[in-house]
Parts: sequence; C-alpha cells; structure tokens
Amino acid sequence: MSTRSIGLDDSLYRYLLTVSLREPDLFARLRQATENMPEAGMQISPEQGQFMQLLVKLIGARKTLEIGTFTGYSALAVASVLPEDGKLVACDVSETFTSVGQPFWKEAGVAGKIDLRIGPAVDSLDSLLANGQEASYDFAFIDADKTNYASYYERCLKLVRPGGLIAIDNVLWGGSVVNEDDNSDDTRAIRALNAVLKEDTRVDLSLVPIGDGLTLARKCT
Ligand SMILES: C[S@@+](CC[C@H](N)C(=O)[O-])C[C@H]1O[C@@H](n2cnc3c(N)ncnc32)[C@H](O)[C@@H]1O
Repeated sequence: MSTRSIGLDDSLYRYLLTVSLREPDLFARLRQATENMPEAGMQISPEQGQFMQLLVKLIGARKTLEIGTFTGYSALAVASVLPEDGKLVACDVSETFTSVGQPFWKEAGVAGKIDLRIGPAVDSLDSLLANGQEASYDFAFIDADKTNYASYYERCLKLVRPGGLIAIDNVLWGGSVVNEDDNSDDTRAIRALNAVLKEDTRVDLSLVPIGDGLTLARKCT
C-alpha cells in the first residue's frame, strides 16, 4: 500500500483538490484567461503552484528566478509569497504570453516584485552572472524549452546560493520518458538531464510526482 507513490485517478485527484487546494479567486481567473489558448497545457497545475509557494516560504526565499513564465501563473504564485522586498526575475521569449499575466500581477499587487526579462533565457541568465549575481538567489524554477534544460540547470546552479533550491518541471514529460518509441529532442533532453541529476553530488535530490513531475535539487553547501 505505501511502498510506492500512489497513482491518482480522476476522483482521487478531485478529492486531493477538494481537501487541500486554497487557490485565490484571482489565481483561478488567470487560469480561466489562459484555458482557451492552444498552449494552455503549458501552465502549471494549481496544486503545484501551492506546493511551490510552500517551498518558497519554507526556505525563506527573497530572491527568485523563473525560466519560462508563459501567462504568468507560476510567477503570480511565487511572487505572492515573497516578502515585500522580494524579487522574481521572470524569463520568457514571448511578449504575447507574458502580457496575459501582467494585469493579474498588478491586481495582486506583486508586479513590482517581478522583473520580466524578454529574450532567450540563456542570455538573461548569462547577463545576471555577468552582473555578479552568482550564488545570490534562493530559489529557481525551470519550466521553459526542454532542449535547453541542461543549460538552464548549470546556470541556475551558479546563481543559486548554497542551500538554495532549484525546481525543474516536466521531468516525467507525460510519461514519455519511459516510452522507448519516443526519441524526440525534448524527451531525450529530459531523460538526459534526469540521468545527470541522479549522479550530481552538488545537489540533494527528490523527484516529486506532482503535476508533470517536479525535481527538487537543493544546492549543497
Ligand atoms: C511551460 S511554459 C511555462 C509555464 C509557466 N511556468 C506557467 O506557470 O504557466 C514555457 C514557456 O517557456 C518559454 N520559452 C520557450 N523557449 C524559451 C527560451 N529559449 N527562453 C525563454 N523562454 C522560453 C515559452 O514562451 C513559454 O512561455
């Protein structure tokens, strides 16, 4: 019964939401504003947003990073639990996607905490490193293009302080990671990073089966 993680059918998933999700109305409205977009499936689930809020609070994060913002749900979740002087550097290539979220950030009163960087995230992260921000971030969330995951991870590992946390999304990739017939670039990139993380002694590690799979990597001191 308890020697492996439980699978969730629809009714058990609904139960999980019923007894634990505390999603503010504003957050639900941002999900509604996204749900008819063809790319809506890219958004994180509300329970994952709530879980990430808990992580951010647990580690007392103040300076945070996000790679892959889309319409801004995860940014809204994280920024909402940062202290008044907290910051989230949010990286995305798309003005179109991120403009959907900005009115919700304003309404939540967190727009001032979010520093949106439009452009390839590798460049945005490199510019933070070039500006002497190494080892200064408490938390990073990686959720952009999968073929760059390894590049994002290495840069985040430099930018996060010892004891800081990197959360990497989609590490189970809808189950494709175990489909031998799926050798797409995205799937191979995720499998490759998962294999690297397993052996990476620079971090403490746990793969949490929430959403599409979320790996937590804590930078060792
Ligand atoms: C899975 S979505 C992010 C979902 C978001 N975290 C949320 O909670 O809704 C991935 C995002 O990565 C962005 N993206 C793709 N390639 C990128 C790149 N090279 N640099 C920065 N962002 C990129 C896309 O525009 C898209 O908005």
